[in-house]
Amino acid sequence: MTGYLERLVLRNLRRLTEAEISPAQGLTLIVGKNGQGKTTVLEGIHLLSTGRLLRAGTENDAIQLGQDGARVEGTLTGGTELAVTLRRGSRKMAYLNGLGQRRASDLIGRMPVVAFSAQDLSLVTGEPADRRMYLDLEISQVSPAYLRDLTVYKKNLKERNALLRQEEWVSDDLLATYEEAMAEAGAGLRQARAQWVTELAPLARDAYATLAPGETLHVEYLPHEEWMDAEGAREDYALNRRRDRERRISTRGPHRDDMAIEVAGVDGRKYGSQGQQRTAVIAVKMATRALMAARRGEWPLLLLDDVFSDLDAQRRACLAEWASQPGGQVILTGTEPELAGSALISAQALYWVDSGVVTRDEIRG
Ligand SMILES: Nc1ncnc2c1ncn2[C@@H]1O[C@H](COP(=O)(O)OP(=O)(O)OP(=O)(O)O)[C@@H](O)[C@H]1O
Ligand SMILES: [Mg+2]
Repeated sequence: MTGYLERLVLRNLRRLTEAEISPAQGLTLIVGKNGQGKTTVLEGIHLLSTGRLLRAGTENDAIQLGQDGARVEGTLTGGTELAVTLRRGSRKMAYLNGLGQRRASDLIGRMPVVAFSAQDLSLVTGEPADRRMYLDLEISQVSPAYLRDLTVYKKNLKERNALLRQEEWVSDDLLATYEEAMAEAGAGLRQARAQWVTELAPLARDAYATLAPGETLHVEYLPHEEWMDAEGAREDYALNRRRDRERRISTRGPHRDDMAIEVAGVDGRKYGSQGQQRTAVIAVKMATRALMAARRGEWPLLLLDDVFSDLDAQRRACLAEWASQPGGQVILTGTEPELAGSALISAQALYWVDSGVVTRDEIRG
């Protein structure tokens, strides 16, 4: 049991100079006008659980203008303390119970989250890299072995690519040493990704059908090559050395994998309407939450940023009902009119954000 997030403190993160929040065990709403700091609260939580911000841009950009650094602290039930500090011009640092960690990603898995924000639309509209990022982040949160394979794979890929870029001739033997590590770790990544998407697909289909009755969502893993084991990987890397030398980069491997997301039978990226794309991403995230819960035996924290915009009334109502079902901690942001309805009624905690100041609505406790 990792427990839920009991207390969150944010310092000098964007507009939030100093904010403290005690999320409910169920649904917490964060309400405010545009630009007041709602998303920043979720960004802080995301940073704690994954070592990464929610939106694109550098970490320096998230530090309040005029300040040297920012800090986020979280306390989980059971007393586990997580913290991340950002410092201008220096490395971000992660702490577990006050102890500095080697990498910010070392916090991954301590407080699993599934997040939906505007950035996540890239899951459907973006490049294969966006979909790989989804797979890597979500699977890492439930599988330390995956995170290890990923770290090893990336490190060796980087070194092999550096060799391929060199002016001098690099021997096959030297390339093969990196390929060996990439083959072992890469096979682990492929198998875990295949398994994940196989389990995800029916859950995503059902989630989509609930939000948009009569339409179907199809999700499928698309490995860049056929191989799924280390043996196949070794052969493939060796066979393609010549081409890799010419192109000066590793052209094949799990770092080129993709995932198909089809809405109503066609590629969602090319043909989906905005609402369909949004619904598809939400359905994938809903399914991800269910899958993570099944794997870990407890619900991950769900962060929903501005989830109601761009959805029709029926989808909104359906989503509001789903977000307020018992089971797991949910933190939802929005502007006031969007949140009217069942989500607001079932919320256990309500916070207002105004000009970077976060206050609890005392009427609701
Ligand atoms: N480094 C920074 N220092 C100070 N303020 C910043 C910094 N980065 C962003 N901001 C400000 O913080 C606010 C962004 O906050 P945030 O994105 O959390 O707002 P929001 O309430 O989610 O708004 P919306 O409803 O439009 O999504 C903006 O007003 C922005 O100008
Ligand atoms: Mg926002």
